Amino acid sequence: MRNLIDIMQLSVEELDELIHTALDIVEKPDKYAECCKRKKLATLFFEPSTRTRLSFEAAMLELGGSVLGFSDAGTSSAAKGESVADTVRVVGCYADIIAMRHPKEGAPLVATRTAGVPVINAGDGGHNHPTQTLADLLTIYREMGRLNNLTIGFCGDLKFGRTVHSLISAMSRYSGIRFVLISPEELKVPDYMISDVIEKNNIPYEITTGLEDSISKLDILYMTRVQKERFFNEADYLRLKDSYVLTPEKMKKAKEKMAVLHPLPRVNEISVAVDEDPRACYFKQVLNGKYMRMALILKLLEVKI
Ligand code: CP
Repeated sequence: MRNLIDIMQLSVEELDELIHTALDIVEKPDKYAECCKRKKLATLFFEPSTRTRLSFEAAMLELGGSVLGFSDAGTSSAAKGESVADTVRVVGCYADIIAMRHPKEGAPLVATRTAGVPVINAGDGGHNHPTQTLADLLTIYREMGRLNNLTIGFCGDLKFGRTVHSLISAMSRYSGIRFVLISPEELKVPDYMISDVIEKNNIPYEITTGLEDSISKLDILYMTRVQKERFFNEADYLRLKDSYVLTPEKMKKAKEKMAVLHPLPRVNEISVAVDEDPRACYFKQVLNGKYMRMALILKLLEVKI
């Protein structure tokens, strides 16, 4: 039985296979419409979500399966003190697969020990968000036609942004990748990501505070929100929250083919005026997330097409 807690649990070949399946789903949705008949997905969200929870639910429904779960831990017995291990042991009696989001790093990993069914990490604290990475990879592939030979700029909250950590790890396995890490000093990529992932894989990178100085060299610009919920001090959040705002003016300096990604939700870091730019891909990314989650559910449930 397979779980997905960290994107690195999937080999490059498996990522290719998921992308291939997702593209086939886009082309021939009817072929997949009953693949998960009588299967149930439980979505256990101990932290707020719009895209991840609803796209998992849409994915299972479009595969012909059913969904159950909670979107507010306050309505579950976690509010009475039930442990994650006991909660998933119970839910594993009702569902065939679990997608779980939790504010504590490592909680989905703990869940794998008692669930008895595959567990998917739908975001754990500031740590990882592997299924967002699946959405990002399909978006990059569909927009650029490749996953290698790309200069990728990450901009904003690179410290707490779990989607950034997962995507850096995933892209570090492709050839010809360069990273430009754009953030305020206080929100830099954690040192362990630099030493254990970027430098270990000999990826050329630069660290900068300047978006305008860097934008012209990028193939992908991955914007992120400053993660208010991870700050201990509101004054620090208020000081840093508007560090970067992508505007049409700044987009004039970018390559004609650059793709702008953002895991969403957006707060203020991309002006709505950028939405009309054909290089704005963040709403396509939302849809790509559903297709990749469909492909992942099929893989983890070992459904033969
Ligand atoms: N990208 C993402 O994880 O969005 P949600 O928090 O709305 O699920």
